Amino acid sequence: MNHHTQPIGIAVAGCGYWGINYVRLFQELPGASLIGVFDIRPERVDLVRQRFPTTATFPSMEALLADPRVEAVAICTEAMSHYATAGECLRRAKHVLVEKPLTTKVSDAEDLCQIAERNGRVLMVGHTFVYNAAVRKLRQYVVEDKEHLYYLYAQRTNLGPIRRDVNALWDLATHDISIFNYLLDETPEWVSAVGARVLGNGREDVGFITLGYASGRLGHIHVSWADPNKTRQVVAVFGDKRIVFDDLNGLEQVRVFEKGIRPITNEPPLGFGEYKMQIRDGDIISPKIEPREPLKDQCCHFLECINSGDKPLTGGPEGIDVLVVLEAMDRSVALRGARVEVRQLKFLATPTATAA
Ligand SMILES: NC(=O)c1ccc[n+]([C@@H]2O[C@H](COP(=O)([O-])OP(=O)(O)OC[C@H]3O[C@@H](n4cnc5c(N)ncnc54)[C@H](O)[C@@H]3O)[C@@H](O)[C@H]2O)c1
Repeated sequence: MNHHTQPIGIAVAGCGYWGINYVRLFQELPGASLIGVFDIRPERVDLVRQRFPTTATFPSMEALLADPRVEAVAICTEAMSHYATAGECLRRAKHVLVEKPLTTKVSDAEDLCQIAERNGRVLMVGHTFVYNAAVRKLRQYVVEDKEHLYYLYAQRTNLGPIRRDVNALWDLATHDISIFNYLLDETPEWVSAVGARVLGNGREDVGFITLGYASGRLGHIHVSWADPNKTRQVVAVFGDKRIVFDDLNGLEQVRVFEKGIRPITNEPPLGFGEYKMQIRDGDIISPKIEPREPLKDQCCHFLECINSGDKPLTGGPEGIDVLVVLEAMDRSVALRGARVEVRQLKFLATPTATAA
């Protein structure tokens, strides 16, 4: 594909709380050349000018798109504007890295995948946790001992920050759904979710989401914008251990508690389907995790995919894998927790021409 020897020309659209990190990273990364930024809020543009005085700013999105030096755009605007902005960038033959969630509708995301495919451009979603060294360590444990993995759960609570375009489930559970998909190499078959509007803000700020997998495993996600206890945890419970990824524990991001319960399967069952249980108790281990910035690794991966033509680890199809769950979750919330099947969509992954 493209064999760039030159740094890739990048623009950043949306320089709010999160977008400013992209500005910093694309300025630092040797494989990128930050051409300029655009934000509809002049105060954010001013802030970029203060913090990164050498960075150019575009007067409009049109000016950004019209600049031939801009080969790729990192889109860090609110979720509701991802579809229109990413679509325009892809149509103008720019590679796109768009923040999560990819769009707010599955059909819009499918559309983006098609435009990217048609124009031969990279479409990648900022599912940052897939690039997180601690999540990767957790995945290693899951892959090595999947047969003894019982279930997963995640908790992502805090006081805000409250968004005005999507609810807390779309904002926060997006992370955990993408983490679970990545850990299990499997997407859920069904969802049951309830939400509450405790802050009276017109959208759900608390959610309890259960995910069911074909393997029989369960996943559970609790999100809240209304909980004064800030948590950012993903837990994997196995027959002989419990592994905790705690994003707020800088020192020991992953801990393995070697304690669990599982049937003794080499002895005959006591009665019909009844096994003796073995309880195991051992050490607490905190494996070494390389101190790396996940967003930096994500940005490097984007540049690599542009150069190599490889599909991103979190491309359009993986973004859709998350959105189908979010849409099923919305339907379940509307049905007060009823179990809703997840639309199984293997977009682009299984071309019909080669399907057996
Ligand atoms: N991956 C992560 O860990 C992570 C963390 C935080 C936020 N995010 C995602 O990043 C995105 C932005 O979140 P945020 O917290 O920075 O929000 P924010 O409101 O602080 O920033 C959004 C910015 O986009 C600008 N904007 C809106 N529409 C625009 C347009 N059409 N063109 C140019 N600029 C536009 C706004 O003026 C604002 O400055 C969201 O999709 C969010 O889900 C991801």
